[in-house]
Amino acid sequence: MASTVLVCKTQEEVFKAAADFFCEKVPVSPKAGPSFSIALSGGSTPRGLFRLLTEDPYRSQCHWPVCTIFWGDERCVPPDHSDSNFRMAKENLLDHVPIDPRHVFRMEGEREPEDAALRYEQVLSEQLHIGKNDLPQFDLILLGMGPDAHTASLFPGTTALQETKRTVVANWVEKLQTFRITLTPPVLNAAKNVVFLVCGQDKAQAVQSVLEGPRAPERYPSQLVNPLSGGLTWIMDQSAASLLTDTMVTNRVSYKER
Ligand code: 6PG
Repeated sequence: MASTVLVCKTQEEVFKAAADFFCEKVPVSPKAGPSFSIALSGGSTPRGLFRLLTEDPYRSQCHWPVCTIFWGDERCVPPDHSDSNFRMAKENLLDHVPIDPRHVFRMEGEREPEDAALRYEQVLSEQLHIGKNDLPQFDLILLGMGPDAHTASLFPGTTALQETKRTVVANWVEKLQTFRITLTPPVLNAAKNVVFLVCGQDKAQAVQSVLEGPRAPERYPSQLVNPLSGGLTWIMDQSAASLLTDTMVTNRVSYKER
């Protein structure tokens, strides 16, 4: 399915566009139980989105009890560690919206990496709808991208890039000298909707290489994200989009004009 590329003037507008997208996708069905599965990304970019979602109009617009929360990747640290993606989401979002903690499924970064990966695979198979290709299917996956075009913890040159069967792996990242727990390309591509949030000039070359460069997923892992039947939306600021040709941009969103 073709991807949509939305370019916003500022990082703040990226967060607004992402919050609008998020609230449009989350079903407003007060009677529905916890049925909308969302995998959150880590890093720093999502912090602004998370905080925006805790404020009105988004906080009251979104029907939080219908959401079940997962992660796209996690560092191999305890949940209270400053590097923990779970901790960042908890502090900036989950502690401020009415989501039942029983509907929050973190990757257990404190465990031995392979054990954590195996346990999370089990969680996904138990908690998610199993799609056509026998893979757990997220309703929405939020991703970021590093300047090296990695996404989740799928880093250039790492073994997880070639994974075609498992849904979660412990991925050794040589340049970081650490394991990371990460969703794999098959489960990312089984999702109903995938959204990349990318901000900053330091991402511009990676954005251009991933979207307009030759296919080289070993070098640009974000190129692996291509949902089989789901939607793929890139929401970025002008800085991150600065090297893109205009034909690649679907829409230049400006909240001042909206
Ligand atoms: C992580 C993320 C990772 C992140 C990118 C971008 O655990 O770090 O999941 O994939 O999305 O590294 O990070 P920033 O948003 O901090 O630039």
